[in-house]
Parts: sequence; structure tokens; C-alpha cells
Amino acid sequence: MDASSERDGSSIKEVARQAGVSLGTVSNVLNRPEVVSEPTRQRVIEAIQKLGYVRNDSARQLRAGHSRTIAIVVLDVANPFFTDVVRGAEEAIDAAGAVAVVCNSGESAARERRHLDLLEEQRVKGVLITPVDDGRDSRLEQLVRRGTPVVLVDRGSGQRNRCSVAVDDVLGGQLAGAHLRELGHRRVAFVGGPIGIPQVADRRRGFAGIFPGDGEELRIVDTPNLSVAAGRRAGEEIADLPPADRPTAVFCANDLLALGVLQEMTLRGVRVPRDVAIVGYDDIDFAAAAAVPLSSIRQPREQLGRTAAQLLLEEANDPAHHEHRHVVFKPELVVRESTVRSPVPRRRARHAAISEVRPPP
Ligand code: RIB
Repeated sequence: MDASSERDGSSIKEVARQAGVSLGTVSNVLNRPEVVSEPTRQRVIEAIQKLGYVRNDSARQLRAGHSRTIAIVVLDVANPFFTDVVRGAEEAIDAAGAVAVVCNSGESAARERRHLDLLEEQRVKGVLITPVDDGRDSRLEQLVRRGTPVVLVDRGSGQRNRCSVAVDDVLGGQLAGAHLRELGHRRVAFVGGPIGIPQVADRRRGFAGIFPGDGEELRIVDTPNLSVAAGRRAGEEIADLPPADRPTAVFCANDLLALGVLQEMTLRGVRVPRDVAIVGYDDIDFAAAAAVPLSSIRQPREQLGRTAAQLLLEEANDPAHHEHRHVVFKPELVVRESTVRSPVPRRRARHAAISEVRPPP
């Protein structure tokens, strides 16, 4: 029963008086409506609406030791990849009667740390996070040790004290490399950074496992972040190369970088894919909508978010029986006009399925 004073000055006592019922009946309407008769429930709801009463969850939160809030900490709130991940997570969080709040680290470790400090003070039910670094950050470790469930999103992990949901990014890099090699490319570039983000490092590693072979060249173009603007600067660097040195194909660590490279090539009259083919990563909606539809390595974005939220809720609701798991999805290659000139039926392989669920080592 929430006896504390509420917003607009109205309190649960005033609601009870207005409806002509006991405090316990008002509390039942709020917490166990199934035990209250319909006419009485309606009278209480009318009183709540008339008085503008808003329940203050702090009393329940103090009793339970945590709120019903689940935080989702993303690397870049402007990246549609995370919009889709959050959409999937929210679906599971809403269904569980909890609420999601999104925090943006902006790829800054300091901002991420500030968010984690505040979220712990708020006693959130749990944290879904794509960490700025390799996820072994001591602040994240401290949060877990002190009892806040954490699930890594879009990040593989071998850690024993938390779950993770990711895509096999090495395979993703290999898919991009094999596709470009199959098209006859021998002088290629990888655009991506910061390499401190493990997903980026894995994509690069998978791609580098394909290129360079004999008589082939692989140019690495590092970027300070994973944005369209960084892609444009990388595109400038590539377009300014003498034609004999310029790569004929570019694999980018995510679609925003790829859209930046595509924009720069288009502005400079470099034809895509005739002069330079481009492959992105994520397959966000803008990839297919680009002026030259983008070939991309598709991540099951909503599935990533939904699965991560389900793992977190399972742990938060029943920690004694929860077993940490590391879920790994397979990416898939989606071929479009940025690598293959003639429009091709979009080879959308079967939807990504969980390739393996790895228990902690
Ligand atoms: O999670 C890091 C990066 O991987 C994000 O930029 C997103 O695009 C995903 O591909």
C-alpha cells in the first residue's frame, strides 16, 4: 500500500475518501484488481481520475530493493541499429510489466561510467549494454558483483557472471570477403574503428582472413567512430588515391560508415559499384533505401534485443535458478546494387538462427 504523498497533492487517503472505500480497497485496485468487484473498482478509478492521483512507486521499490526499470545503454543513439535492438528489447520488457529507459554512451567510456553510477543509485532491475570497451570494464564488473544483472548486447563474452547476446562477427567479415572475392576484387579496403570495440576487431579479423591472398592488397582505413561523417572522411581518403592504387571494393564495419563512403564516392563522381563496390554491416533499413542500395551483412537486430531482455528478466526474476548463457546468432549476406550492378533478387538466406548457445567456460 502506497501511503506516501503523491503528485498533485492527492493521496491514497483522498482517493479512498472520494470513492467511499477503505485504503486497502484502493491498494487492491492498484495492485490486485482481480480481487475487487467491478462496481467498486470503477468507483475507485473514477476517484483516481477526478483527483489526478499518480502512484509513487518508491515505497514498493524500497520493499523490493529494486525498481521495475530496465536500462538499455547503447553506443550511439543516432545509429538505427540500436533503435531496432531497443525495439526488440522493449517488446520483452513491456510484456513483463517492466519499463525500459535508454542511455546513450556516445562511445565515451566516461559517459558510460556516469550512466552506470546513476543506474545503480536508481536500483534498476537490470542493465542491457553494448559496452564502449571489451566489457571487462571494472565498473561493469562492480555492478554485477553488487547484484545488478547485466547482459552484454551485440558483444560476445566468455565471462562467467553475466549473459551475452551477439552475432558471429568473424563470420560476418568472412562473408563480406568471400562475396567480394567471388566478384573478382583483388585490391580491397576495410573501413572501421575504433578497433577497441571487439565487434569491429572481429569483423576486420574475419575479412583479413580472406584478404589479402597472393597478389592481393588489403588497405586498412581507421576511423575515430562508427558514424556517417567518419565514413565520408574515409571515402575522401579512398577517392583521393591514384586510380592505380585505389581499392576496387570497400568493406565497412557498419552501415553508417558505408553510407558515408557511398555519399562521398557519389559526390566525387566515383561510380558504385563499377569503380568501387561497397559492403556495409547491420542491414539497417537505410541500407536498402540508399541511392545505390547497399549490400550488407545482416544482424538480427530486434532478435538480439529481445533475447538479451529475456535473459535479463529470467535472471532478475529468479537469480537462484538462472544459468548464464552466451547466445551467438549467425549473420547473413544481403546482396544489393552497391556490389552487383544488375539488380538481383535479394538473396535473403533463411532468418538468422541461433548458431550455438555457449555455457560459460
Ligand atoms: O556495436 C558496435 C557496432 O556494431 C555498432 O556501430 C552497430 O552498427 C553494430 O554493427
